[in-house]
Amino acid sequence: MAIRPVLKMGDPVLLKVAEPVRHFDTPELRQLLQDMHDTMQSLNGAGLAAPQIGVSQQVVIFGVGSNPRYPQAEEVPYTVLINPQLDTLDADLEDGWEGCLSVPGMRGLVPRFKRLRYRGVDQYGQPIDRTVADFHARVVQHEVDHLQGILYPMRIRDLTRFGFIDALFPGQDLVDE
Ligand code: NI
Repeated sequence: MAIRPVLKMGDPVLLKVAEPVRHFDTPELRQLLQDMHDTMQSLNGAGLAAPQIGVSQQVVIFGVGSNPRYPQAEEVPYTVLINPQLDTLDADLEDGWEGCLSVPGMRGLVPRFKRLRYRGVDQYGQPIDRTVADFHARVVQHEVDHLQGILYPMRIRDLTRFGFIDALFPGQDLVDE
């Protein structure tokens, strides 16, 4: 078990475009995924991208069971997604509040595509091809953005809807981010 420090917004690694993974089911990839899993779990995150622990590769994990950070969110199966590609299905956008382990203590209202198809491979190089909507679609868009060097505050259209959690949602006792 290795919990790694999460880089915070301002770190140049978070702004880089991540490299594709070319070798699967290797000890290095297994270790990376274990560290990402442990780190995300320790912080109650809904997702984590490899660049957030300083590894500029196209690897993301996400999954939400019952998560105190997202009490209203529907469940998303735990997923390892490597070399992802997103395809939008229509132009419908939806605003939703997001947080990020690299932007601790804050939330912002971010427009995302409501529906999308995502493809990629898992840690064994096996294909993943899913069509999803709503919170699942939002989480994927947020994590895949990390691989392009994009953090959610860069997607906020109205900066009056960006702030500290305890000020935005007083008394709601939302955990960390
Ligand atoms: Ni994030």
